[in-house]
Amino acid sequence: MQHTTINVNGRITSGEDATVPVLDHGFLFGEGVYETLRTYSGKPFLLDRHLARLNSSASSIGLSPSFSSSEISDQITKTIKAATSDSEYYIRVLLTRGIGELNYDPEPCKNPTTVIIVKPHFDNASQEQSDGIHTIVSSVIRNHPRALNPLIKSNNLLNSALAMQEALRNGATEALMLNHRGEIAECAQSNFFLVQDGEALTPSLESGLLEGVTRNFLFEVGRSIGVSVRDTVLRQSDLETADEMFITSTTREVLPITSIDGRAVNAGKPGALTIRLSKAFRTKALELSAR
Ligand code: PDD
Repeated sequence: MQHTTINVNGRITSGEDATVPVLDHGFLFGEGVYETLRTYSGKPFLLDRHLARLNSSASSIGLSPSFSSSEISDQITKTIKAATSDSEYYIRVLLTRGIGELNYDPEPCKNPTTVIIVKPHFDNASQEQSDGIHTIVSSVIRNHPRALNPLIKSNNLLNSALAMQEALRNGATEALMLNHRGEIAECAQSNFFLVQDGEALTPSLESGLLEGVTRNFLFEVGRSIGVSVRDTVLRQSDLETADEMFITSTTREVLPITSIDGRAVNAGKPGALTIRLSKAFRTKALELSAR
């Protein structure tokens, strides 16, 4: 396993030594929320946006974080310093309900737990970037927004885990998930885009998905290079006619999809517009991080 450095409620240890109590409702009931970030040039990228989403997820489950955003930001910096590697970093921030009784009452849980995990981050294998990835359309549908709203970045990840198990059994590295109406929602661990008539299209939030920080940033990247990147309702039939497909996420940036359910996308090659957006994304990320 890669070396991890972990901060639990402000106490930093190496990965093997970090613990969270069994009576934490995060462990007992999956009550918690999280963010995944990465650094460029050693700095957490779009930190403010991630912390805003973390607070919004926490508020959706009625959790008041023990640390303010600026304290979390300081703790991230401290944890990165303790990690002492010269690579870029993957950073995961988790908030859980904390210790309480063996029931759902949040009231006795006075001290929500804050965990920050830092480990070296290596960019997408160039192989993956140049060959693209295999995906499936999962038989597992995305959580219904009135059951567990996908807008909440929840630690409760069974919905994604089951879809990913199906993908991995079928030799794929992502699972595209539909919603209860059969519309395309998002992938198990990333947002989904397809290219049609020279535009990059991604499902709108009404289809029930996480409002990805990378997805939003790509709208801005598109505007800056004169490529139309917008959201709309997408259906499975759009997969038949799409010229290109790709995913976006913090850790995978803009990554081409070259097959879906065993069918080649764009003759099995990353598409031209995907490559353009992917390069522009990286350039912009590095530019912003150099400031
Ligand atoms: N995953 N949709 C889902 C279900 C995700 O889990 C993620 C991110 C995204 C993309 O969001 P963003 O661009 O903000 O990273 C969309 C992260 C990387 C993770 O789970 O570790």
